[in-house]
Amino acid sequence: MAALVGRRARDVLKRAHFATVLRRHRHKKKWAATEPKFPATQLALQNFDMTYSVQFGDLWPSIRVSLLSEQKYGALVNNFAAWDHVSGELEQLNARDFVSEAISHGEPEPESGQTTTPPQASGAYSPNLRCFTFARGDVSRFPPARLGSLGVMDYYLMDAASLLPVLALGLQPGDTVLDLCAAPGGKTLALLQTGCCRNLAANDLSTSRTGRLQRVLRSYVPQDIRDRNRVRVTSWDGRKWGELEGDTYDRVLVDVPCTTDRHSLREEENNIFQRSRKKERQMLPMLQVQLLAAGLLATKPGGHVVYSTCSLSHLQNEYVVQGTIDFLANQYSIKVQVENLTHFRKLFMDTFSFFPSCQVGELVIPNLLANFGPMYFCKMCRLT
Ligand SMILES: C[S@@+](CC[C@H](N)C(=O)[O-])C[C@H]1O[C@@H](n2cnc3c(N)ncnc32)[C@H](O)[C@@H]1O
Repeated sequence: MAALVGRRARDVLKRAHFATVLRRHRHKKKWAATEPKFPATQLALQNFDMTYSVQFGDLWPSIRVSLLSEQKYGALVNNFAAWDHVSGELEQLNARDFVSEAISHGEPEPESGQTTTPPQASGAYSPNLRCFTFARGDVSRFPPARLGSLGVMDYYLMDAASLLPVLALGLQPGDTVLDLCAAPGGKTLALLQTGCCRNLAANDLSTSRTGRLQRVLRSYVPQDIRDRNRVRVTSWDGRKWGELEGDTYDRVLVDVPCTTDRHSLREEENNIFQRSRKKERQMLPMLQVQLLAAGLLATKPGGHVVYSTCSLSHLQNEYVVQGTIDFLANQYSIKVQVENLTHFRKLFMDTFSFFPSCQVGELVIPNLLANFGPMYFCKMCRLT
């Protein structure tokens, strides 16, 4: 009986709806047929609510609202443009270079009669990087980058937290550097800005994305500098790198594909939470272990690797690092040591919010006053 009433009510409603629409205007809404029943962004949020509420406890509601709000950018100054002029213009906007501020605040006062080794000389962070951000709570936006007088763009807009893995890599002049998953190229550009690369291999599996990387390099780095830094762009499977060029590099950046948490909550296109990509998503930690292992095998003994993701997931962050270190010890008898980044975190805690309880590495968590990240990074030294 109840079912009959329900059906009748639906019929009446249907007729009432059609009665108000002229026949020639009656059509099925196109989007109703094409729009997915469960948008991937929604599935991502459900997934994060389940896993991150356990992982982050009381911190999750504030991280969640920040992830769903507009993110903040940083302006990485192009040292190959007239950088003092660009810096002046950014200062006029009330932005500040968070890198030089952090470093000048963090430098220890030398005691009288004593000389201290500056942290930069000990490889604590890569030199010559300038990145402007607006102060905590200031949600101003940077105007788009412009072509400077030297024929290259004046700055590159990026999530300022993306600079931390490059800073942590601690480049030294004359280093041979590999950027294993490089496209679209924000971090490759930052590596070149340090002026330290004797040669730089920038690789990405995707040829369309290495095309974007090439465009970024052409727009920001003059040809003679690209030649001097011997920049080589390739589109190989990074997992094979250890076999191709083992024990070769001083510094390796392994910025792996991940669930790109912020992107997954905003964009349907290319969203890893689409149902059709479930297997790919489940296989991510495995791919990440393989890429990190390849990066470590490509490093010279004594060289350094930074592993990074833009995900909050422990499974893609700390577990991958620990799993890879165990794998290399068991399969190759290679010893890898995780480096302590506490000093590094302290340097940058005025600009970013860090998760206080990482077992290995550091994690920038989104915060409404400093809405950068997520960005996980862990620095390792290959000992043997
Ligand atoms: C997080 S993005 C890299 C972002 C880049 N480092 C930047 O700062 O602009 C991860 C990249 O890994 C690439 N990738 C996925 N699988 C790969 C593989 N097996 N080998 C090398 N690159 C891979 C993807 O095409 C994607 O561009």
